[in-house]
Amino acid sequence: MRSTFYITTAIFYANGPLHIGHCYESVLADSLARYHRARGARVHLLTGTDEHGMKIERKAAAAGRPPQAWVDEIAGAVRHVSDRLGISYDDFIRTSEPRHVTAVQAIFTRLWEQGDIYLDQYEGWYCHYDETFWPAGRVLPGDLCPQCSRPLEWTREPTYKFRLSKYASAIAALLVRPGFVVPESRCNEMLAFVRQGLDDIAVSRTTVAWGIPVPFDPAHTIYVWIDALSNYITALGYGTADSTLYRTFWPADLHVVGKDIARFHAVIWPALLLALGEPVPAGILGHGWLNVGGEKISKSRGNTVDPLPLIERYGVDAVRYYLLREMPFGPDGNYSEEGLVHRTNTDLANDLGNLLSRTTMMIDKFVRGVVPAPGAGDGVLEAATAQAVRAVEQHMERLQPADALAALFRLVSRANKYIEEQSPWSLAKKPAEAERLGGVPAGTQIRRGAPLFPRIQE
Ligand code: ME8
Ligand code: MG
Repeated sequence: MRSTFYITTAIFYANGPLHIGHCYESVLADSLARYHRARGARVHLLTGTDEHGMKIERKAAAAGRPPQAWVDEIAGAVRHVSDRLGISYDDFIRTSEPRHVTAVQAIFTRLWEQGDIYLDQYEGWYCHYDETFWPAGRVLPGDLCPQCSRPLEWTREPTYKFRLSKYASAIAALLVRPGFVVPESRCNEMLAFVRQGLDDIAVSRTTVAWGIPVPFDPAHTIYVWIDALSNYITALGYGTADSTLYRTFWPADLHVVGKDIARFHAVIWPALLLALGEPVPAGILGHGWLNVGGEKISKSRGNTVDPLPLIERYGVDAVRYYLLREMPFGPDGNYSEEGLVHRTNTDLANDLGNLLSRTTMMIDKFVRGVVPAPGAGDGVLEAATAQAVRAVEQHMERLQPADALAALFRLVSRANKYIEEQSPWSLAKKPAEAERLGGVPAGTQIRRGAPLFPRIQE
């Protein structure tokens, strides 16, 4: 068992509110955090917002707002959804906070002073929307972005670069560590990529005002990854007077991220940490995407699903249950409201709801609402429960809450079946058998109430 467990979500771009795909990531991380808390570990769950860059600068301008005011509002909305979703985060980091800005500047300066960052020129096809330089071989006909199909611009500017190339073999060695990147399929793609060697990467821009200034050359702002990835340690007070949290929780046990950014976490992030002489995270979970009709849910595709009305309509437990239960480990999953309603009805209202209502009904009716002392029993449900507990533990250790839930619901079905087999309604009529009705803590007062998960009209 672990004594501490540090787990993070990605930090969400402050260019719009959270959609249901982001919520999946948060709920996944939250379920693992809650599991380890329940097992007695001291858990630190970090989430937050990624607030710099041209995309956000432009979004704010389009809304006629100063960037800081814009990200303040979005960060508030992200926090609100996280709260409504019941995400038990211990900290919420925003990259425009002084605690982050100061620490990132110190990290950048240190890497520069030790020669891991150097000044260079960058020239190439650049997508302003995705904030990505594309190699000529990837550019689509008509000079379009291979990711978003928007027109690319030929850009030339001075840029600071990080010596990623220097760390290629160290990263390849990390990638073969079992459990460093899961699922394994994701890891193999990366290994092939890293074994070809790595290019140094641009880490500053002169054309983006909304970013953290390079302290020794303020014409540059720090570009994307050093700013964004560092959040995982700046939030712990890395490099500040009070680094208690850092010493307690670093290295992270698990970064939970989508497959689109797993590579940055498995390659650039460990290289930065190695350069800083710090330990690398123990694991990176690159989950699949939540799709709608086969397409990734994303702000740029305009097919987002707002979680708030769903939570309002179906309750937070139904939404959380659906996200955890439906998403497979690794591949993409599909979201539909019909699916959510169907899952809620089948598992929560029918199986779990029936078990709960018939159990409370029997206690109410047969023993006047007071749980009797446990009888000898036949051990069937005890054994099934012990088995379910072991299965849940195994699946959660393998980061697979969907399977853990499936194991739990097998127990629910077994319990329902047990009630039918034993037909307690007839036992209750035979005084000699009445002790077999026991099994729950004696003396507990039970009242029947409204169903926890009422059936929804499909
Ligand atoms: O990538 N299904 O932010 P982001 C599942 N700021 N997960 C999804 C998803 C979907 N449809 N859409 C997005 C960023 N995500 C950076 C991260 S971390 C140092 C910087 C996931 O708002 C996505 O894969 O675009 C990522 O892990 C997270 O939501 C934030 O995405
Ligand atoms: Mg994204």
